[in-house]
Amino acid sequence: MINTRLNSISIVGGAFGDEGKGKVVDEICHTLIKRFDKVIVYRWNGGSNAGHTVETQSKKFVLHQIPSGALIEGAICILGKGMVIHPGDLVSELATIQANSDIKTDIMIDEMTPLALDTHRAFESSLKKKEGGGTGSTGRGIAPAYADIIFRHPLRMRDLLDKNWKEKFEKHYRLYKSLISGLGDDLKKIQVNSLSSGAVKVGNKTKFIKKISAQRDRIGKYIKNVYDMIKENWNSKVPFVFEGAQGVGLDSRWGVYPDVTASDPTPSGIFASTEGIVNPEAIEIRANVYKATYTSSVGKRILPTKMDEKLATRIREDANEYGATTKRPRDIYHIDLPALSYFAKVSMATHMVLTHLDISYPDTPIKVCTHYVNKRGQQIDYRPDQEFLNHALPVYETFRPWDGNKIKNSTNINDLSSSAKNYIKFLSKSLSLLPLMLTTGPKRESVINSNYLLF
Ligand code: IMP
Repeated sequence: MINTRLNSISIVGGAFGDEGKGKVVDEICHTLIKRFDKVIVYRWNGGSNAGHTVETQSKKFVLHQIPSGALIEGAICILGKGMVIHPGDLVSELATIQANSDIKTDIMIDEMTPLALDTHRAFESSLKKKEGGGTGSTGRGIAPAYADIIFRHPLRMRDLLDKNWKEKFEKHYRLYKSLISGLGDDLKKIQVNSLSSGAVKVGNKTKFIKKISAQRDRIGKYIKNVYDMIKENWNSKVPFVFEGAQGVGLDSRWGVYPDVTASDPTPSGIFASTEGIVNPEAIEIRANVYKATYTSSVGKRILPTKMDEKLATRIREDANEYGATTKRPRDIYHIDLPALSYFAKVSMATHMVLTHLDISYPDTPIKVCTHYVNKRGQQIDYRPDQEFLNHALPVYETFRPWDGNKIKNSTNINDLSSSAKNYIKFLSKSLSLLPLMLTTGPKRESVINSNYLLF
């Protein structure tokens, strides 16, 4: 029997990412910081591929590698070992936050966190050109950076501070130059994405080392051995918020190829990232975040529950369904309970957060896929395989809608109509998850009941 660690909560994307986790983490941290002196916000997966949007009254921040807690006074943000970090993008993110907010961000980067560099981005792009090998990626070098761990030659944050850092990074450059030349390309000429200046050429080894040198000067002070600090705090009562990136449906074990990512977006990733200090089963609340009335995704995967384009276009425009990192228009699906309940099961979720509750139209009933059947009419499960899903037929139930405009930015549960409340109860029962929080618009304050208690 594992004892529950009070004041701990994980926030995980319940579907395919972009569910609105940034805002949820932001709200939870606000609530916690009012009751406790400090809160630790810990990110355990992904890297610059993530895009967490937090809108304050005057500004909108899109964070990629830095946890959303960075916008909260008193929060200590840890970038964990399970992430892969692009130092150049991190410098840009830090500069944006520091230039646009008075908040003193308290950030620590685990010295063991692997690096995702321009070399990885170039390799991914070269692979994609060659064999479609990198298809499905955001071009942020995420998969090659994680592959370095498997191949036993990752560069880690602490290598930036090593006295032989130059030799290590030169060796890395040479390796990637050879790999890329094997694919028929020239590393120095490949254009890669960068947060500060869009597409840039990787450049030759000297230029690469020069860039790294400037980055280590800027971020060196944040790189720490965090093991003892995490252990000490986990064994105390300090609240922990674990901030996930991506979503369970993008996990390479639970999602559909090629639209999967290399990191572990589920709470089991926290176990590995904290080197076994935090057993995810001890986390008090493991919340999966879902869009309330539809599901969105980008990529090639096709779920059986695709919406007709007219309604999809309306939702896309009203909810700005374009990728935060890639700006790609997202595909829009009906709520797909076979997939979502499978994701809830494999990520050991206990609670649900529903976002985008304002996306409901009085003239359009909400269609929910309750289960799939095969062509003989027998009920079948979701399985993470496109070929299987191509033959799954969705069975729908229809729910009374509510007027989303009337509850836009609402903070009061009493503003919800009985149809909205019934719908939420239905989802809660179907997913076997307790409701934790609802959001009613993109603004920071558009949240109903953030006190961990709902009807
Ligand atoms: P990668 O993680 O860059 O390799 O991208 C793999 C897949 O995950 C792609 O299909 C992306 O669209 C998707 N993906 C990665 N990060 C996010 C995210 O934060 N939100 C939504 N999709 C993501």
